[in-house]
Amino acid sequence: MEGYLSSGPQKADKDAENQKNKQEHPRTRIETDAIHVGQEPERWPGQAVVPPISMATTFKQLEPGKPVLYEYSRCGNPTRQCLEECLASVEKARYALTFASGLGATTTLMFMLKSGDHILSIDDVYGGTGRLFRRCMAQMGVESSFIDMSTDASTVVKHLKPTTRLVWIETPTNPLLKLADIEQIATAVHKHDPKIMVLVDNTFATAYFQNPLKLGADLVLHSLTKYMNGHSDVVMGCLMMNNEEYYKQLSFLQYAIGAVPSPFDCYLVNRGIKTLAVRMKQHMANGLRVATYLEQHKHVERVIYPPLESHPQHDLYKKQMSGFSGMISIYLKGDEVEKSKRFLGHLKLFTTAESLGGYESLIELPAVMTHASVPEEHRRQLGITDGLIRLSVGLEDVQDLIDDIEAALDFAFSSTDAK
Ligand SMILES: Cc1ncc(COP(=O)(O)O)c(C=O)c1O
Repeated sequence: MEGYLSSGPQKADKDAENQKNKQEHPRTRIETDAIHVGQEPERWPGQAVVPPISMATTFKQLEPGKPVLYEYSRCGNPTRQCLEECLASVEKARYALTFASGLGATTTLMFMLKSGDHILSIDDVYGGTGRLFRRCMAQMGVESSFIDMSTDASTVVKHLKPTTRLVWIETPTNPLLKLADIEQIATAVHKHDPKIMVLVDNTFATAYFQNPLKLGADLVLHSLTKYMNGHSDVVMGCLMMNNEEYYKQLSFLQYAIGAVPSPFDCYLVNRGIKTLAVRMKQHMANGLRVATYLEQHKHVERVIYPPLESHPQHDLYKKQMSGFSGMISIYLKGDEVEKSKRFLGHLKLFTTAESLGGYESLIELPAVMTHASVPEEHRRQLGITDGLIRLSVGLEDVQDLIDDIEAALDFAFSSTDAK
């Protein structure tokens, strides 16, 4: 890694200085940071209140080899930089780096590893992350293993190997909404070996409800595609951190690998993040109403939603999160895929589609959609059965959403009974 860095431009140093200066400013609260940090009108000619989109791929140099602030847009861009500063502030991080997708961020991080290294991952990891570890990283000689991290930190430590370089936590998980104790795991892993990186995929919780760096994690990943942008119109990811050395290495990899987002997409996410706080409060209010309604429904076997007291890790939820998004998983009675399909097919407001976290309500069957790439045996062990349904509760009127679900459940179960 040393060799990599010494051969690159001084971009990382320059960016680190910029971002560090920002982070040393007195901190306000997330609602204020999301609107103001990185958005100062003084940084743009004409003092634009809304950051302009800078589409230039290249920037004039004062003399050969003497760029002013930026040189080539893959290495750095004004619109991307104002987004990265804003993102770092909402996650309470010193640094943020953005990528062309959440998986683009993960892939870039993989270049911190080398053949022979080991990744210890939570078992119920997002299907695409698991596929990257199992199918792509294995080919590069990086081994991975998957364990239940919802029990206690000693289980995680027991599975560490001398070659473990990265512990991958996702909490709450997708789609089973299992929680892992970030503080306990990070403390135990770092005690075992401070050089092991502990990463938390914070996509489902968002920076509004959970800040893993404050709990001891080294790195936070977001699929910005989801709640952080919140409008289902951009695919993007980011990595956030406090450690300057990790930042320098990842900043180098960001430009060396080139999985960077477009300035237009950066503009959109920068706009989306402005309303993160108000959106998340409403997602939580709607999610709780829908989960509570579903929990008492005669056709519903089980509802998984961390804010409900029935969630097996409700105490941990209260300890490390200040709320939760609109993600709910349910099992219908009978656990039959045909019944689930009839239910989804009859909904009018919930759209059957992959992805989540937008203002609109979505619904899906993980076993045949988002998690189809998880080996069947592994799916069965985890509980991702054909009858598991995942809802992303949006910002529509909540009674309209409940009425929609009620009508579709009635239809799904009455037509089964009729057969
Ligand atoms: C928890 C989680 N992490 C990472 C990703 C990957 O993000 P992207 O789709 O932006 O590549 C997803 C995508 O669904 C996800 O749900």
